[in-house]
Amino acid sequence: MAAARKTRVAVLISGRGSNMVALLEAAKDPAFPAEIVLVLSNRPEAAGLARAAAAGIPTQAIDHRAFADRAGFDAALDAALRAAEIDLVCLAGFMRILTTEFVASWAGRMLNIHPSLLPLFKGTHTHRQALDAGVRLHGCTVHFVVPELDAGPIVAQAAIPVRQDDDPDSLADRVIVQERRLYPAVLALVAGGRARLEGERVVIADAAPDGALFSV
Ligand code: GRF
Repeated sequence: MAAARKTRVAVLISGRGSNMVALLEAAKDPAFPAEIVLVLSNRPEAAGLARAAAAGIPTQAIDHRAFADRAGFDAALDAALRAAEIDLVCLAGFMRILTTEFVASWAGRMLNIHPSLLPLFKGTHTHRQALDAGVRLHGCTVHFVVPELDAGPIVAQAAIPVRQDDDPDSLADRVIVQERRLYPAVLALVAGGRARLEGERVVIADAAPDGALFSV
């Protein structure tokens, strides 16, 4: 019997792309249910593009500064994703707000990773926000993308303890380690059909990991 077709994934980045590299590494496993077929950035200078190219993955830059408005950029992005026959989009440090229309057309087919335990600490400077709030647990979240920023059905989270002497950089250093573990695990769950959207929530199949990762 022929092997099942793998989910075709595009990873969208704006910067160094370390989450993207973690996804590429995981996808090397022949048993992984997704293949990364495109790495795309809105910033031609993003360091992650060179890292993807060095790994032999097709890359593309669509410079948002070349477009008069968000709709124009999103239309170009959409065209590139469709041309590559993408099934699922993974935002990984992609620092552009997407239009409602674009998000709607990829509803249920676009994931994001955010460096906090959502719904706490949306937006930027999440590690500073966590310290200011005095939380004892912090972490990261992978969720389906909806038009509202840093909202949307949560697939899985990873948590770390906040230490007395943490600063934003030390928290960032420990959270990113968890991000690089969590995102590939979530992509495997979603691409493998073991995590699926049911209305506003994500249901994970019995046999699969339960969506919570803890680290001490
Ligand atoms: C990650 O912390 C991600 O959650 C955030 O931006 C950072 C990107 O890091 N939104 P990298 O480019 O994947 O290394």
